[in-house]
Amino acid sequence: MSSSTPAPLAGLVVAVDGTSGSGKSSTSRGVAERLGLRYLDTGAMFRAMTWWMLQHGVDVHDPAAVAARVAEPDLVSGTDPLAPAITVDGTDVAVAIRGDDVNAAVSPVSAVPEVRARLLEMQRAVIARESATGIVVEGRDIGSVVVPDAPVKVYLSADPAARAARRSAEQGGGDVDATRESLLARDRIDSGRATAPLTMADGAVHIDTTGHTLAEVIALVVSLVEDAGART
Ligand code: DC
Repeated sequence: MSSSTPAPLAGLVVAVDGTSGSGKSSTSRGVAERLGLRYLDTGAMFRAMTWWMLQHGVDVHDPAAVAARVAEPDLVSGTDPLAPAITVDGTDVAVAIRGDDVNAAVSPVSAVPEVRARLLEMQRAVIARESATGIVVEGRDIGSVVVPDAPVKVYLSADPAARAARRSAEQGGGDVDATRESLLARDRIDSGRATAPLTMADGAVHIDTTGHTLAEVIALVVSLVEDAGART
């Protein structure tokens, strides 16, 4: 399926895009939990694909080598916001995909068009399956490419210092400066790639989360979803 012909998606889809460490995951899970919706973490899918490439000795900086193996891994994404699960070839990789090796390799792998095409098809299949219940989908290109007709689109950002502080706290108090550099390096690649770069989608509401608590951001997005429901 090409990115220009999205599958028809009935029901509620909340598209949450933004930079690394902007609060996308916590916000998306919190909104899904509050509203009884399903949840899809598309970043975890790119991470799982990257983990598989590393496991199989593929040179992640060689796009042709990555493209040649892209059909092989069997990825399965869960949609429970309380327990997001992801397996590759039957192995639970939820923890392994957060390691430094995957952090360093995920942006170049995500820039390979064949990777994006395969995961796009999988993402749309999950969304189509869950959209009768409603689903919150987080990533970089959800409102712009994956579900351009999503009734609610949010773009989250935050100051690099705030993002690095949050990420290193999540990781148990790592080196904040190194975390900040790693986040900024990923932003540069994710925003600069040719296929589906990180961008604020048409119609997205921009929320700068820097000065806000997680509870405030969740409440704001919940109110956007409720307003959208009231309009339909
Ligand atoms: O959200 P995250 O940090 O787990 O995402 C990891 C990487 O995956 C991110 O650096 C870019 C890529 N990604 C993407 O290209 N498109 C998406 N929809 C989601 C993630």
